[in-house]
Amino acid sequence: MIRIGVVGAGMIGRRHIATAIASPDAELVGVADTLPADDPAVASLPCPYFRSHRDLLAQAKPDAVVIATPNRMHVPMGIDCARAGVHMIVEKPIADTIDDACALLREAKRANVVLLVGHHRRYHAQAAEAKRIVAGGRLGTLVGASVVWATRKPEPYFEATWRKSAGGGPILINLIHEIDMLRFLVGEIASVSGLTASAQRGFEVEDSAAVMFRFAAGALGTILCTDAAASPWTIEQGLGESPSFPYAGENPYRIVGTQGALEFPVLRVWSHRDAAHTNWNEPIASSPVKTLDRDPYVEQIRHLRAVIEGREAPIVSGVDGTRTLAATLAIHESARTGAPVDLARDHARIEAAVA
Ligand SMILES: NC(=O)c1ccc[n+]([C@@H]2O[C@H](COP(=O)([O-])OP(=O)(O)OC[C@H]3O[C@@H](n4cnc5c(N)ncnc54)[C@H](O)[C@@H]3O)[C@@H](O)[C@H]2O)c1
Repeated sequence: MIRIGVVGAGMIGRRHIATAIASPDAELVGVADTLPADDPAVASLPCPYFRSHRDLLAQAKPDAVVIATPNRMHVPMGIDCARAGVHMIVEKPIADTIDDACALLREAKRANVVLLVGHHRRYHAQAAEAKRIVAGGRLGTLVGASVVWATRKPEPYFEATWRKSAGGGPILINLIHEIDMLRFLVGEIASVSGLTASAQRGFEVEDSAAVMFRFAAGALGTILCTDAAASPWTIEQGLGESPSFPYAGENPYRIVGTQGALEFPVLRVWSHRDAAHTNWNEPIASSPVKTLDRDPYVEQIRHLRAVIEGREAPIVSGVDGTRTLAATLAIHESARTGAPVDLARDHARIEAAVA
């Protein structure tokens, strides 16, 4: 068992609190938020409640915390945790900028604490199985990946004004998860080109983006992302991970290699019967791959404990979260300049932070 605290009892923080309460790997020893103690979100907690994360660290003495506060607080709170010798899961994005993320990476390294980033979808059983299929060579040499993330957010979603201005759009909120999943399944991204549009909603922030990737190992990739179109193709609808996003059973990801193809997350592998004849004149057939899904948040806590105890290597390290952020921020940069962004520059800074 690890003693765990949660900082931020908002939408996702409440999910982490419920997970920690139910987890066989953790004991919830405290929650911190700025809400008054009689607020319904914190009034019935089965653990001490603190109005500051520093009080949580000093008084509840957790082994680890989950930081689920607004993005700009991730780094200062994470640095406080590292200086207190406390391991952490930081919600995504790890930071608003690469410099800030690197500051946290440095502190975590100096303090020798575990730093995981909350790209929770890597913990779904389907993601682990897809990774096994790709890494096991069933698709041959990877040639490319194509993703659609298209859904229509409801009008009340935009009542919060920050969702209409820079940083509040689908690139930093949603697409960052797809980029992280592509990095997990296909490999490191070397360069990014992006186009953005705000024609559907007319807000300052984008409602749509089209992105092209060059992966370090040579494959190419694309993502079409929009929160202004009705479709069954989002990973949320393909996983059915939340009742808020009803299951559609469709596959927004296609990964193709010289020997076959994979649809994800409703796993389906396509291949020719005879591996010696894999050309377009031969019939190609698919077989479903059965996986029993698991709660990714429960798995995330189990994994955190295993990493702290030295039994597993991090599935989403701080470096991973920062590299995912770099590829995501590059979309905006490319859309602004009209040129592809080579990520070697960011990768060198990130490596230097943990050298
Ligand atoms: N992994 C995912 O899929 C996922 C999903 C949703 C949100 N997130 C991330 O989680 C974070 C929180 O998002 P949310 O939607 O839960 O936001 P939210 O606004 O619902 O919750 C944030 C909480 O932080 C609290 N807070 C603010 N300042 C604080 C402080 N100084 N000390 C302690 N608590 C403080 C607020 O009172 C609020 O309860 C964001 O970084 C977001 O990107 C990740």
